[in-house]
Amino acid sequence: MVGGLRATVEDARDSFVDGFPMGARSTERSANAEPVIVLPATTPPTPSALATSTERSPTITLASVREEIGDCRRCKLCERRTQIVFGVGKADARLMFVGEGPGEDEDRKGEPFVGRAGQLLTEIITAMGLLRSDVYIANVVKCRPPGNRNPEPDEIAACQPFLFSQIDAVRPDVIVALGKFAAQTLLETATPISKLRGTWHTFRGRRLMPTFHPSYLLRTPSDKKLCWEDMKAVLGELGLPVPKAKPKA
Ligand code: URA
Repeated sequence: MVGGLRATVEDARDSFVDGFPMGARSTERSANAEPVIVLPATTPPTPSALATSTERSPTITLASVREEIGDCRRCKLCERRTQIVFGVGKADARLMFVGEGPGEDEDRKGEPFVGRAGQLLTEIITAMGLLRSDVYIANVVKCRPPGNRNPEPDEIAACQPFLFSQIDAVRPDVIVALGKFAAQTLLETATPISKLRGTWHTFRGRRLMPTFHPSYLLRTPSDKKLCWEDMKAVLGELGLPVPKAKPKA
């Protein structure tokens, strides 16, 4: 019907796993080029596939966390940000992704993962048979580090309570920590992501799977297969099927 505008789950999975379409390699979290957003699959999961998590927090909500952040001046990242990038997605999602921090595109748009790394994250989610709107996406730091540098320890420390509160509000069954900063912040460890990924961890009683950050995967597409292994484990943990691969032509 809408032809090239929509990708099937299988197309998305194959394109993610096979490392296409990646174009030029990038060393940044986001690129200036307009991202090609992969639209939701033509065969979306059944509405019940990621039904609301049954455990709800009676006290903490995403709105209350956002209100607490306010017009935050708790660290130096406030000085050069365009806006605070809080989080996006289903407020009671069973699956939550945590990234590092906003890049240029996210800073401009006010939404996490909308640049090139975001395009790849969307492909990963679609390949899992899900939609972005099925999951919740947040970052360790809510303001863009200038020039897309790494967030510094004092910046992470200032933002960490809000990330933890977001998790408390969403109460996901599974958290996917994307990359070193998310995994190390949530697990309060200095272990490298290459050692953390691919095995289950626990964050405040919730299942946590560390995997590679999409920006790293843009630079190292050969590791996408490992990320896909991690996502298959996540689907298994959620009791969801792994979408079937499309037979190769
Ligand atoms: N990288 C991140 O970690 N988060 C974003 O929101 C975008 C890129």
